[in-house]
Parts: sequence; C-alpha cells; structure tokens
Amino acid sequence: MKEKTKKNIYTAFIGEAKAYFRLLAYAEKAQEEGIPQIALLFRAIADAERVHATRQLSLLRDILVKDTDTNLEKSFQREKSISENEYPEFIKDAEEDGEKAAAIAFSHARDAETYHAKLYERAIYQVIRDEVAAYQVCQVCGYVTSKKIPNKCPICGATKDKFKTIADGDLS
Ligand SMILES: [Fe+2]
Ligand SMILES: [Fe+2]
Repeated sequence: MKEKTKKNIYTAFIGEAKAYFRLLAYAEKAQEEGIPQIALLFRAIADAERVHATRQLSLLRDILVKDTDTNLEKSFQREKSISENEYPEFIKDAEEDGEKAAAIAFSHARDAETYHAKLYERAIYQVIRDEVAAYQVCQVCGYVTSKKIPNKCPICGATKDKFKTIADGDLS
C-alpha cells in the first residue's frame, strides 16, 4: 500500500475510534438529561463509527496484524513500555498538578499493564500445555487474571461483582 493512503487510513481509524467513545459519553449525558431520543441517536451514530473504524482497520490488517507469536511479543513490549515509561510520567504530572483522580486512574492503569505484560509472558506456556482458561477483567481498573475472581481486586479493591469473565468462545 502507498504511504499516503496508509497514513490516511490510520488517521481515519483513530478519529472514528475516538468518536465511538465520545458519542457514547454524549449518549449517557443525554440520558441523564432525560432526552432518550437523542441518547439513542448518539448510540446509533457511535455504532456506525465503530463500523467505520473496524472497516478501516481491516484495510491495514496485513500491516498491523502479524502472526500470533509476533503479536504476543509486540503486545508484551507495549505493556512494558507504557507501564515503565508513559504512565509514571503521567502520574508525576497529575500529582504535580494536584489532579488526584487522574493520578489514581493512571496509577491503576500502570499497575494493570504490568499484570497484562505478565499474562502475555505466561500465555505461551498455557498454549504449550494445551490449556484454555477463562480470564477475569476488573471493570474499574482493568486488572486481568487467569485465576478465579478475587474477593477484592488487588489493584483497586473492587468487589467480585465488578469483574467480567472472558471465557472460551467469546469473541466480543
Ligand atoms: Fe494493557
Ligand atoms: Fe480493579
């Protein structure tokens, strides 16, 4: 693929992906304000932007998506780098600015990313042993474990009901 088109697809993809989340936030606001029709409209358009993002990403599939070994290694490196470099910087800045909520959100994310990195490292051994185990995801901080749901999230302290199970066969 030619450079210019590749760059444009990537830019479009990022824009659509951001719009998806922004529109869902707008929908929530409209719902709070008691305007359900507008909430539905924002949700519908959000879903359409998700369709665009997915379609554009599929055009870059051969460039962005490699074989699973490579994808695991790349994902591991990303988690490691973001938890060791970006997030510590973000936490420091938020603390300096006195932005407590942002500092906590960043530090939860940093801690969760270190667990994500460990899971990527370990996953290959599960494959070798032919294991297919479900994962549990904390919906507050993004902590993930392949063990059973903890009574309390080790990162954010959330209770059991805040966990979502990603089991075999789920692709959503
Ligand atoms: Fe992560
Ligand atoms: Fe958590």
